[in-house]
Amino acid sequence: MFLSAEFHPFRLPSPGLWLDIFQKVKAMGFSGVSFYHMWALLEGEPGHVRIDGVFALEEFFAAAKEAGIYLLARPGPYINSETTGGGFPGWLQKTKSQLRSTNPEFLNAIKPYILEVGKIVAKAEITKGGPVILLQPDNEYTLCSESTGILDMSNCLDKQYMAFVEETYREAGVTVPILVNDALPLGNFAPGTGVGSGDIYGWDFYPFGWGQPPCSNPQNWTRSSLPYPAYLSLLRNISLPTSPRSIVEFQGGAPDAWGGVGVEQCASLVNQDFERVFYKSSYSLHVTLFNIYMTYGGTNWGNIGHPLGYTSYDAGAAISEDRQLTREKYAELKLQGNFHRASPAYLTAQPNEDSKGIYTDSSVLLTTPLLGSKTNFYVVRHDDYQSTNLTRYSLRLSTKIGNITIPQLGGSLLLAGRDSKIHVTNFDIGGIDLLYSSAEIFTWKRTGNKSTLLLYGGMGETHEFALPKEIGVLTDPENENIKYSNAGKAQIVQWTVGKDRVMLSFGKDLDIYLLWRNEVYTYWTLDLPSPEPLGRYTSPSRLNSSDASRSSVIVKAGYLLRSASIRNERLYLVGDVNATTEIEVITAPLGCCKALSFNGRDMESTFIDGRLTATVLFEAPEIHLPDLAKMDWRYVDSLPEIQNGFDDNSWTLCDKVASNNPRVLTTPTSLYASDYGYHAGSFIYRGHFMANGNETALYLQTQGGFAFGHGVWLNSSFLGSWPGTPEASATNHTLMFPRPLVRGSRYVLTVLIDHMGYDENYYNDINPMKAPRGILEYSLSGHSDASSITWKMTGNLGGETYRDHSRGPLNEGAMFAERQGYHLPGAPTASWEERSPLQGINSASVGFFVTTFTLDIPAGYDIPLAIELHGPMSVAGVKDKSSNFRVQIFVNGWQFGKYVNNLGPQMKFFVPEGILDYNGDNYLGLTLWSLDGMGAKLEDVKLSYDVVVQSGYSKPKVVQAIEYEKRV
Ligand code: GAL
Repeated sequence: MFLSAEFHPFRLPSPGLWLDIFQKVKAMGFSGVSFYHMWALLEGEPGHVRIDGVFALEEFFAAAKEAGIYLLARPGPYINSETTGGGFPGWLQKTKSQLRSTNPEFLNAIKPYILEVGKIVAKAEITKGGPVILLQPDNEYTLCSESTGILDMSNCLDKQYMAFVEETYREAGVTVPILVNDALPLGNFAPGTGVGSGDIYGWDFYPFGWGQPPCSNPQNWTRSSLPYPAYLSLLRNISLPTSPRSIVEFQGGAPDAWGGVGVEQCASLVNQDFERVFYKSSYSLHVTLFNIYMTYGGTNWGNIGHPLGYTSYDAGAAISEDRQLTREKYAELKLQGNFHRASPAYLTAQPNEDSKGIYTDSSVLLTTPLLGSKTNFYVVRHDDYQSTNLTRYSLRLSTKIGNITIPQLGGSLLLAGRDSKIHVTNFDIGGIDLLYSSAEIFTWKRTGNKSTLLLYGGMGETHEFALPKEIGVLTDPENENIKYSNAGKAQIVQWTVGKDRVMLSFGKDLDIYLLWRNEVYTYWTLDLPSPEPLGRYTSPSRLNSSDASRSSVIVKAGYLLRSASIRNERLYLVGDVNATTEIEVITAPLGCCKALSFNGRDMESTFIDGRLTATVLFEAPEIHLPDLAKMDWRYVDSLPEIQNGFDDNSWTLCDKVASNNPRVLTTPTSLYASDYGYHAGSFIYRGHFMANGNETALYLQTQGGFAFGHGVWLNSSFLGSWPGTPEASATNHTLMFPRPLVRGSRYVLTVLIDHMGYDENYYNDINPMKAPRGILEYSLSGHSDASSITWKMTGNLGGETYRDHSRGPLNEGAMFAERQGYHLPGAPTASWEERSPLQGINSASVGFFVTTFTLDIPAGYDIPLAIELHGPMSVAGVKDKSSNFRVQIFVNGWQFGKYVNNLGPQMKFFVPEGILDYNGDNYLGLTLWSLDGMGAKLEDVKLSYDVVVQSGYSKPKVVQAIEYEKRV
């Protein structure tokens, strides 16, 4: 079972934290991680593939291996992934060819990157001791824009293109199986389908969609369907029986867009109930490769996002952007992960058609059986998957003890609304046959001659299970929380779930823990380190092994357990607590453990009922965060372009009279930023002309992607701005001149345009990624000869020959402070004016504000920090969105936030440790762009945190990156 979490290293550019995510994924009982890499970050300069520094993968591979996680590598070249251009570098806009085709120009463009990244992945394959077991070429090479029906959705695909990508990865040395992901289960490139087919076929499924805006009203589940009965026969037809049934991406979150409702709503939409209903339904298809997109989303720092998303790529995933586990959906994944890890029989069971009224006595429940040679699984849910009804039912199952109706000891089972259960029959728990269980299996473990089983259910539910008579009988049958019968062919136990756990012993053979679901949330199964090559990788043998070097432990703790190891009869646990926490070792290899250490500290431990226990004290640290608003701030004007005499001599002359861009040029020379090598952040244009005296207005059409804005000046006078809307990717704007121009005088127009990222290229017969950015059209009324305006422009300094190789090609935009490198630590700010962003600027312009602050975060704690920006408040304490301004946040040179006051919603920008120096000096820079004539200011700027975790994480090193050097 490749149960996998999607997590992108480039969205957490602090390599020292990758292990933290891998450990949190592993602690869910998952075996894999799927990751994209982003070509646009790696080949900003055509012909120079740079996969180093924070973009290198070696540390990512090492961390995966250390945690015991297998990897599915998905380096593109196309990735989609809500990234600018879907991962395509901006310079592809300059190519003539159809993207994602066999046009030689396109193949020549992708080849060097595939060879380079392929070589790196190949070195990390499992056959060479690394964690990589699968490779996915390209991404969802599936759909055509012109399709009219499901059958012709892929009629535009060029199979040779897929074959080329696959062959080039092979040429780079990749030998692991190739997995293809279809956007829908259409069968594209399934094994055995000829040219371009992969070794394993899979498809992607987002039942609640990823379109906009999905996150409002999260309780509304009408947005989907659950077409699984139909899918089963479909999949039988399109995928070979030898190909593991694979869902390469299943919805794990949802995105929020500019002007949206905030990521927490997305987390409530795709919450633990969704996971239970939809994921368990997927298991009922016998899916054995299941990847949850996203499980840790991270951050769209430094202009890596597409225009439909903002800086946070939290996506409401199980692990939040600040790497924390406060969402219940994380805990639910842990239940599912542990179940799979402890259920090898699932792997060989075969799914049958869904049924109503056969396996249960209810016509509103749907049951999908997965039948094995011995063990059967019955996945039950409401047929109407969004039902919130409480449905009582009984199961009618065939078991070793005959055809029976469960519960046998009276009462009924309960399905509480948006829930799903996996009931089992004849389930092996270390040589003991669990004849049936309506309670779900968390995990089990065999140590010595005894098995330990952990079952769980929802509050108030009645559950029942049965065990053979041959094993020891229940030691204390008079337990008040259970009903017990030994009268028939089996020992039958019924239990109604309450807060307190029930522990039962069946002689010396078996211990069973009956647990309320929310209590299991605090239980962890940890693989003990084995000699290479097993390391910490999960293996079914760990369930049965008593040998400490191939075994695992089950421990009740609190917030998180990361790893366990045993030395000299002492169990060493590494984990995190957010409160004083009881630790209790439920099972451990025989002979272990007489003592306990937690995060390197020996604990005072005692045995209670034979189980080793200890208390980890949570000691609240003293945290002193600097008050940013009160710091010494320095200011420099960041729009000198509108001052008289500004010298744009060295700017790029917009002199191209033709463009390869598919949009037909409607200006005398191209003003598409990409034609001049500028692809990220923002652009500034300067149009020089001599007035004839009749000019009254400027007409502009600009395009910057959804939520973009622009500002326009004539010489030093502000003409107006477009503040942006979430819906507009382009705008038409007529700007009146305040007074007549003087005939024969020279004027300059300055246009600052925000760029929110390139569009993605989801469809394969068109080139949406090539939609240009910049000025698309212009005219001067009263001035007929448009070509008499000479345009110059700039984006980031150097364009494709970008300066900052540490932070990559997308981190900087066109603003003066960025071009000068003032956002980098060490900038010469001492002589700048003292002024804070709370004073702001008093005209339509751009100001750059900097400060430095020192952090001294106590060791042993994981305290994710955010920078919060607050715009002006109106009287009732409600945010005043009428002030149009935009802020970019640079932390130690890294752009970790783009704030748009008039659109929102993001105000809090997490900055990972490592980008922030937690024990040293930090440099913070803000570009403040007022789109209003009256200027703009912040109400507040502050550092904040939500959670304080006493943590066994490995403290990340501060990321090394270039510092300020004078730029010419
Ligand atoms: C898929 C795509 C992913 C991501 C996801 C969520 O179609 O493969 O890269 O974009 O949708 O939108």
